[in-house]
Amino acid sequence: MARFVHNKESEITMDYVNLPDASARTNSLHSCAGGTAAVPGRKLYRLVAVSFGLLCILQVALNISLHLTIDASCTNLTQETDKRELINFDHYFQQGWVYIRPSFYYISYIRKTWHESRADCLQRGADLVIINSKEEQDFTRQFHKNTWIGLTPQKNKDTWKWVDGTPLTKSYWGPEEPNNFEGNTEDCVEIRFFETENSWNDIQCGDQNFWICEKMLAL
Ligand code: BGC
Ligand code: CA
Repeated sequence: MARFVHNKESEITMDYVNLPDASARTNSLHSCAGGTAAVPGRKLYRLVAVSFGLLCILQVALNISLHLTIDASCTNLTQETDKRELINFDHYFQQGWVYIRPSFYYISYIRKTWHESRADCLQRGADLVIINSKEEQDFTRQFHKNTWIGLTPQKNKDTWKWVDGTPLTKSYWGPEEPNNFEGNTEDCVEIRFFETENSWNDIQCGDQNFWICEKMLAL
């Protein structure tokens, strides 16, 4: 309890009664002056800090559960893909395909025109062979003397492209080829001079040749 008195300079001061000592008065003063304003502020600050902390924990928990979910579905997907590809693998072997990473190859034992040969490959879910390396060139030239490959001319036969649309970069033309022999339109390509690495020959698309299909399947 407090009552107001005038001191000798006529200033208004507070005279505390019923308080045990000065320190109690000081504490009481603090709680009266700053306390009523400071305590709610501090509480608010603590509330914000705790809420922020909880939000962080929640975020971490969400992240972890999201990761676990994604990992689980990825694992399932990979297993599914593996299974599907193993089934494919078996299917290709049963139909007489040869696997040389990363592709399966089907080597025909009958002859057809270039377009008929390509249609056969497409119907098998593949396309005529595309030769991207010396290894692939050596592999494809070991079967038959006349074997279609998936190479087609661009305008005026200046450039060539593979059946997947990629340009020809490394070629294996035989001597004097391509030559449109005797003025004929030789717009398809066969492996002809198969005893040598440079074995390609341009030839008329209606000729009857063996063919090789390629199906890329990375295992
Ligand atoms: C030529 C080839 C030609 C082929 C046609 C060969 O003797 O060397 O360039 O495409 O005959 O049958
Ligand atoms: Ca030729």
